[in-house]
Amino acid sequence: MKLPIFIIVLLSAELSKADIIASCDKDDFQLDGQISSRITYASVYKIANMYEVKHDPRLEKIARENFKSCSDYKHGKNFRVLGAPHEKEYDAIFKKHLKAANYTDLDDPKYQEALHPLQYSFIICRLKVNCSMPVEGGTLKSNTVAFYGPQGTLSPSDLKVGPPGSQCPYGKAERGLCIAWPRGAGSSTDSKTGPPSAQCPNGECIAESKSGQRRDGMEAMIYVFFLIASLSFV
Ligand SMILES: *[C@@H]1O[C@H](CO)[C@@H](O)[C@H](O)[C@H]1NC(C)=O
Ligand SMILES: *[C@@H]1O[C@H](CO)[C@@H](O)[C@H](O)[C@H]1NC(C)=O
Repeated sequence: MKLPIFIIVLLSAELSKADIIASCDKDDFQLDGQISSRITYASVYKIANMYEVKHDPRLEKIARENFKSCSDYKHGKNFRVLGAPHEKEYDAIFKKHLKAANYTDLDDPKYQEALHPLQYSFIICRLKVNCSMPVEGGTLKSNTVAFYGPQGTLSPSDLKVGPPGSQCPYGKAERGLCIAWPRGAGSSTDSKTGPPSAQCPNGECIAESKSGQRRDGMEAMIYVFFLIASLSFV
């Protein structure tokens, strides 16, 4: 008598686990905020190979495969979760980059996911449930999760020092960051990627106001904080 009920409970738990993500629709506002933050970071911290992120339906598949319960709020082998606690050594890796970039401001920026230069896919998914999720320094209740791809880890060699867009394998996008992936090699979403800008081959077109650098960096950080917050307070 008890056994079938137990099995039904297990089964329904498994079923509900399987589709915790409701939808991952393209969100131009959040995507633009991500790109703006990456432009600012690349400029302030002299990251030469920062990719422009794009909405990538392929990342939705990865997200659905990996994010099946609230406890899956963590980084995977080919994606990272915005806001999930990062590996402690990443702060040291980023610090080493700042040193190489002669970044001498007094603030002590820490690694965060929007700083990973080699991420080019981004997606925000709405969940069917509210999850209590661990973030740096606390827990947030959220019904949305944002994913970056395709990198699951950060290596010291991932961060190149130089003007934004000056070390791009496939050239630059219109706003100065590196093109996400070779044209024609991705989904239809990449057809609007502009050709590498001939006018600013070395990235000089990105405005670099010396006095505004630190403030811009802080603003980008604050933006990302509010993004996490707006995603999280449900
Ligand atoms: C950092 O400063 C050193 C010493 O002045 C210089 O050789 C190097 O080119 C600088 N690096 C950058 C990225 O500006
Ligand atoms: C999530 O939390 C909000 C606010 O607390 C609540 O209104 C909503 O019904 C919850 N959603 C679910 C699926 O539990």
